[in-house]
Amino acid sequence: MTRQASPSVQSEAKAAAIAEAKSFAPEVPARIGSTPATKFRGNPAIFGRLVEDHDRHRALLAMIEATEPKDPARKTLFEEFVREVHGHAAAEEQALWSTVMRNPETTEYARHAVGDHHKLDKLMADAAARDITSPGWLRHFATLKEEYLEHILEEETEQFLEAEKTLSDQDQRYMRTVFNRRKKAEKAAAVIEKKIALSPIA
Ligand SMILES: [Fe+2]
Ligand SMILES: [Fe+2]
Repeated sequence: MTRQASPSVQSEAKAAAIAEAKSFAPEVPARIGSTPATKFRGNPAIFGRLVEDHDRHRALLAMIEATEPKDPARKTLFEEFVREVHGHAAAEEQALWSTVMRNPETTEYARHAVGDHHKLDKLMADAAARDITSPGWLRHFATLKEEYLEHILEEETEQFLEAEKTLSDQDQRYMRTVFNRRKKAEKAAAVIEKKIALSPIA
């Protein structure tokens, strides 16, 4: 079972994740507000590593929303978000969900998470295909933001909890190493697809 990190380790982990996002546009505020309670924040194995990315993504989403349409930081931050999420989701599937999927007791949780990834790919491609400098772009972005926040909330409060029950401490530590290796490669290879969605995705 995962032991909860101390409050100072948890807040350091969150602050470090926000600082990573801020490095792309230090002048843009990153007001992520309160985050859902999770025992995994600051954890040294796979689930803590995934929450660290989630916090980084929460910060990027808040920053994008805080930009003006013509601010070049909006595009920089959006492209970083898309590359981050592609890298994260692919590595999460390879390091965690593939194993969780193989166990009949937890198949449905993995399937749900991977299904969400497909939906999010379409939402990111839709937002990428639209004019980011137009005042209306934030409406498309708002749908993506809402769906992404919902996805990571569900992972942290449902699917990670179920997955954790079937994984040993050793599995969880090993998965972190696999995740880090795969995320680096997947993020480097990520392509920003552009495709307008013709019917509602969410
Ligand atoms: Fe995730
Ligand atoms: Fe995910």
